[in-house]
Amino acid sequence: MSRSAHPAGPRHADVLPEGHYTAPPTDLNALDPRVWARTVGRDADGVVTVGGVDVKTLAEEFGTPGYFLDENDFRARCRAWREAFGADADVFYAGKAFLCRAVVRWLNEEGLNLDVCSAGELATALGAGMPAERIALHGNNKSEAEIRRAVEAGVGRIVLDSFQEIVRVAHIAERLGKRQRVQIRVTVGVEAHTHEFIATAHEDQKFGIPLAGGLAAEAVRRALKLDGLELIGVHSHIGSQIFDTSGFEVAAHRVVGLLKEIRDEHGIELPEIDLGGGLGIAYTSEDDPSEPHQIAKALRDIVHRECEAAGLEVPRLSVEPGRAIAGPTTFTLYEVGTVKELPALRTYVSVDGGMSDNIRTALYDAEYSVALVSRISTAEPMLSRVVGKHCESGDIVVRDAFLPADLAPGDLIAVPATGAYCRSMASNYNHALRPPVVAVKDGQAREIVRRETEEDLLRLDVG
Ligand code: LLP
Repeated sequence: MSRSAHPAGPRHADVLPEGHYTAPPTDLNALDPRVWARTVGRDADGVVTVGGVDVKTLAEEFGTPGYFLDENDFRARCRAWREAFGADADVFYAGKAFLCRAVVRWLNEEGLNLDVCSAGELATALGAGMPAERIALHGNNKSEAEIRRAVEAGVGRIVLDSFQEIVRVAHIAERLGKRQRVQIRVTVGVEAHTHEFIATAHEDQKFGIPLAGGLAAEAVRRALKLDGLELIGVHSHIGSQIFDTSGFEVAAHRVVGLLKEIRDEHGIELPEIDLGGGLGIAYTSEDDPSEPHQIAKALRDIVHRECEAAGLEVPRLSVEPGRAIAGPTTFTLYEVGTVKELPALRTYVSVDGGMSDNIRTALYDAEYSVALVSRISTAEPMLSRVVGKHCESGDIVVRDAFLPADLAPGDLIAVPATGAYCRSMASNYNHALRPPVVAVKDGQAREIVRRETEEDLLRLDVG
């Protein structure tokens, strides 16, 4: 996406630097509902509120930086996915996007299943009462201990990622006197149009077993021979932040093709397919994601069509959205510190967090929006770059955005759509303390993950 062409800028009008921006928005105080959580708005004084609580109160009570999550929005998104896919399909929330015990309880109450990819996520899921049979374990390099724990707990499925793992899981299950339900993750050879590091179904990468060269068919052959395994289906995940369903179409076509091969060779029809997650969300007003019911209809239609053409019973479908549920529910609230204007370039707006609470801009060149939220402003737009306080020039939160020119230290600004892969990828770089996640609902706010303290940090440093 090239958006460097820019009409005359209002602040640095003479020389406009390269950047990913279009014209400044007509109203800097507007909050695009596609980008912000559902209950976000401004009160009579122009202060932004979420779940009925204003950001000044939230900042006072919980401090900044902090992640503020709209609980009703999170639950509504769970329900929308659940209802869109219906009773003959399963929605597994991908816990890697953001997981804590409160989230597990919400998923449980809203009827979603849970995809975990580590012992830590599994412990969180089980510890908060997610029934084991509604948990799927993923990972390209699951340890013996992780597999044993999952099998012992009785997880509903382990998604096998390699030939070695097929044998490993089978042996562990046999030793425990169990037969583990498994799927095989295949790479279907689709190039998802997303950043290379978050695309996962092209063949030259670490996940899955390629369909190409008959490798996936061979994996099925081996899995079917092992007593410790009950092969229930095939899994495909093509990548993340995808807007176009054509990649899923190709994936479904190829996965159903494998099911047909299996039927022809072994005389069995596997009962399940999983098409993974990866559905995109709006980070800026330029993104236009589909609604869950549109995605569900598209995926179901594809699977039905392909199965009919192949003469197969339609298997039970599952999907694994992470970002599409958690992402839009949360914004990160920062306090503005130093504001540094570089003439003829842009204004660097430093906030009290940075790459330790949002690594996505530095890592994937991700784009975000930002708004002044502690007041409204009628000042002219100022081409800004929101940067953190870390000792690194790549410490950028929002690369290119317009903020009001009267922005001053002490103002609160917020970056929306940070509910997925921000807290879960947060770090202690420069010994930063990871921010809390605060759930806000019906006028009440409570920490569901508390802020780290210096004691937390020093507790691990055993001297
Ligand atoms: N299922 C599997 C097997 C996955 O590997 C993933 C994501 C998902 C589901 C959920 O994908 P989602 O619906 O959230 O896109 N850190 C990156 C994203 C990495 C995603 C890894 N796998 C980012 O911040 O964009």
